[in-house]
Amino acid sequence: MSKIAFIGSGNMASAIAGGIIKSKTVSPSEIILFDKNEEQYKKFDTECKKASCAKEAALCADYVFFSVKPQNIKDVLSEISSLDNTGKVFISICAGITIESIERQLGKVKIIRVMPNTPLLIGQGVTALCKNEFVTKEEFDFVSSLFSSSGYTTEIEEKDFSALTALTSSSPAYVYLFAKSMLTGAQKLGFNPSDAVLLVCKTLIGSANMILSDSRSLDELIRMVKSPNGTTEKALDVFENNNFTDIVCEAMKACADRAEELAKMN
Ligand SMILES: NC(=O)c1ccc[n+]([C@@H]2O[C@H](COP(=O)([O-])OP(=O)(O)OC[C@H]3O[C@@H](n4cnc5c(N)ncnc54)[C@H](OP(=O)(O)O)[C@@H]3O)[C@@H](O)[C@H]2O)c1
Repeated sequence: MSKIAFIGSGNMASAIAGGIIKSKTVSPSEIILFDKNEEQYKKFDTECKKASCAKEAALCADYVFFSVKPQNIKDVLSEISSLDNTGKVFISICAGITIESIERQLGKVKIIRVMPNTPLLIGQGVTALCKNEFVTKEEFDFVSSLFSSSGYTTEIEEKDFSALTALTSSSPAYVYLFAKSMLTGAQKLGFNPSDAVLLVCKTLIGSANMILSDSRSLDELIRMVKSPNGTTEKALDVFENNNFTDIVCEAMKACADRAEELAKMN
């Protein structure tokens, strides 16, 4: 069975490891952890092994996750660059860190770049992956399967990573903002926000599932809710008069531009 190391054992690493263990793709004893902060190990299955440094973790594993914050990856790369890394597959989940910047420190090794989102923490993530030319299809499929145990996965080209940040990585925050705005609206209409949260979230989930399962277009789905001169039309008029679609597009463009800027800095 393949051994998997996590260098950086925080929130994302524990969610990924949890998904892998739950799906029985890898047993906990095949997982090796290293984190500067030993408190982090409490989030993991007690059978996971602990390494004393990044080098030891990488040395013991076939698949090595870089799951530190982006500002810490340089230290990790410089620590393991002296190892013979041939044959290992490195997986970076660090936002804005390109494959090329990792190759600059590690040379021509197998690298998979991954962008998960935070719903992965509850097994409902969306994860995009891309690889360099040294990774085989079997290795790539194996790494994809590690993420599909915590949600949906898709392969994209690395050039699309910045744009995808706006679609899947930052976008949970837009949804939270929309939910928060609806809760503020609910409060103004006399609801207690703690009572309204379940109603609002169930409506968001049901509506998203309706988009996915119903063959009708989004315009048709909107028309199903909206009757002429009815209540929904009044609400949608307010959104339209305030350029709701333009605001969302502008926000997504700002997000993608910033992701591109950050990728160029690394
Ligand atoms: N959270 C998200 O929404 C999200 C989404 C997609 C991708 N990501 C990416 O996922 C990565 C991890 O994020 P996270 O939220 O899981 O971070 P996190 O909970 O802060 O975990 C990172 C851990 O790495 C440790 N660390 C720092 N430098 C280290 C080193 N040189 N060697 C070993 N461990 C080290 C940190 O310790 P200290 O705290 O003591 O420094 C911390 O315990 C980030 O690169 C982020 O860009 C996050």
